[in-house]
Amino acid sequence: MAGGALSQTEKELIRESWRLANVDLLAHGIALFTRLFDLEPELVPLFQYNGRRYSSPEECLASPDFLEHIRKVMSVIDAAVTNLENLPSLEEYLTGLGRKHKAIGVKMASFNTVGESLIYALEKGLGEAFTSETRVAWTRLYAVVVNVMSRGWQLDKNGELTTV
Ligand code: HEM
Repeated sequence: MAGGALSQTEKELIRESWRLANVDLLAHGIALFTRLFDLEPELVPLFQYNGRRYSSPEECLASPDFLEHIRKVMSVIDAAVTNLENLPSLEEYLTGLGRKHKAIGVKMASFNTVGESLIYALEKGLGEAFTSETRVAWTRLYAVVVNVMSRGWQLDKNGELTTV
């Protein structure tokens, strides 16, 4: 995994901004998904709990089950930040997570929109504390995470990498 691409300064910028975001992670997560649904409203029907679909992004964002998913997303990002010095330790988990999302019907391309939405949410939420250097650092970290998750889209049902 290309975790070595992150400099110590970039890791510090990520840790510091994440520490600020931790004051209210759920609020940042809601901002992330609000932006994501603005950009890709077709993702809303993929969230179904107890066989029930949401008819609008607002309804989805108000649901306790969906808020749990937001917490799950933020805890995966938290794991990446906590393991900045050892991102390969997350490889198996992240590839498996990619695979689950492929099975749910999420397109790989939507995960790039998630990255844009994450950075948008942090930028809006943290204001001046989120500098252009911090933005570059987060873009790099997200690229590492999504690159590993993308293997979950390439694995066939036997767990082998398919030729693409
Ligand atoms: C494209 C946007 C996404 C969609 C449409 C989506 C959809 C879903 C759905 C429908 C589930 C199953 C229900 C649930 O557990 O709430 C799920 C589970 C999950 N998602 Fe997502 N998700 C998205 C993005 C993400 C991202 C970016 C992350 C983390 C980086 C993530 C982390 C998780 C986790 C940890 C689970 C639980 C997996 C398990 O039960 O083992 N999701 N997702």
